[in-house]
Amino acid sequence: MESPKQSRKLVAEGGESIVDFDNKAFKPIPQAGIDLAVKAMNAGVMYRYQPKTKEASLTAAFEHNFAKYMGLKHAVGTNSCGSAMFIALNIVGVQPGDTILTNAFTFHAVPSVIEHARAIPVLVESNREWAMDPEDLDKKATETGAKVLLMSYMRGHVPDMDAIMEVVDKHGLILIEDCAHAYATLWNGQLLGTFGEIGCFSTQSSKGLSAGEGGIFVTNDDEHAARAVLYAGSYERLWMKHYDLDADLMDRLQNQVPGYSMRMQEVTAAMLTPQIDRLATIKQIHVENWNLLHSLIHDHPNIEIPMPLAQVDPFCDTMQFHLVGLSRDVADRFIDLMKEEGIPMQIFGARRNARDYRQWEYVKAHQDELKDTIANIEFACDLSMQPHLTQDNIRVMGQVILDVLAYIAEQSGQ
Ligand SMILES: Cc1ncc(COP(=O)(O)O)c(C=O)c1O
Repeated sequence: MESPKQSRKLVAEGGESIVDFDNKAFKPIPQAGIDLAVKAMNAGVMYRYQPKTKEASLTAAFEHNFAKYMGLKHAVGTNSCGSAMFIALNIVGVQPGDTILTNAFTFHAVPSVIEHARAIPVLVESNREWAMDPEDLDKKATETGAKVLLMSYMRGHVPDMDAIMEVVDKHGLILIEDCAHAYATLWNGQLLGTFGEIGCFSTQSSKGLSAGEGGIFVTNDDEHAARAVLYAGSYERLWMKHYDLDADLMDRLQNQVPGYSMRMQEVTAAMLTPQIDRLATIKQIHVENWNLLHSLIHDHPNIEIPMPLAQVDPFCDTMQFHLVGLSRDVADRFIDLMKEEGIPMQIFGARRNARDYRQWEYVKAHQDELKDTIANIEFACDLSMQPHLTQDNIRVMGQVILDVLAYIAEQSGQ
């Protein structure tokens, strides 16, 4: 059998792939955002507190609009989601040595933030659909007495939120939501990021709102918002250049809270300004593309795609599936061939991936061996599906996946 590339004539004379789309290219900044950013740079106004009033600040306006979009009272821009989560841990009073419940399956930025706060992550098992297991959460909360849950919706996967909130209530946990991958994602019609005391979003390039770097802290709690503004790095009476803060509260807290220099800057806010409105359009493209790819590959015997719970309305900007019935070597060969085809993918539990908790050597985690998580990441493939991909691109992706599987089956006899 010819290799998939040869048989589909997808390779040019020189041998390079001619799949002419890049599934990992990130979303461009809308022209209106580029214009605002250039204007800010031309004027030399890049620092969020340079404009004389909150009305003139792009960052303050973006915060105000994002809070409105979320249906929450407050949003505070930061320089990353990691910073927003670190600020959140400080606000809820985490002390060095405290235990913090979090996902065993997430990106290493999450345990890193707990380490940054000199606290100890307690890793909670993931289920087959890569979301947090509420039963294991209950067990670990009981065993450790931890009082804070930093829960990550890794790759937009949503646990049974009713069951999670029951455990949160039962143990009196403070819930902080990591929504880096969960823009415009709902459980029973309620946006993720509104279930806990604090929600944290990322505006790093691959995310739903995309600006290279950046983060957003959201809350309904006036005092949490006040502290977040101060922790991010607001001094003297600069808090007056924010919307919706209580002046008495700010004057009282002004010099009690250290400033960690984690502010969002005007150029970031400029790039983000037109992006809230495009989230719905992007989501629709993601969902249509995801459904199409699912229909093309889900019944292949080597592919298992766990579906979200019925209550979830997902963002669908990536697809994950388990490779089943393949050895480690053959699964790795699949990834290599997909890359050669011009469609890079990864397996979470292989090749020192930063989403495999066994790689977090810096974490002095309170943990047993996490058998479910290992079983659920060992052969879990991860595919980025940015919204520039057309339905034709998706059909090519689906065909390449099937062709590569057929090719390795013939080569390996598996
Ligand atoms: C699940 C998850 N949470 C948090 C973060 C941290 O985001 P940031 O890079 O904005 O700090 C990331 C980064 O990719 C992530 O993947």
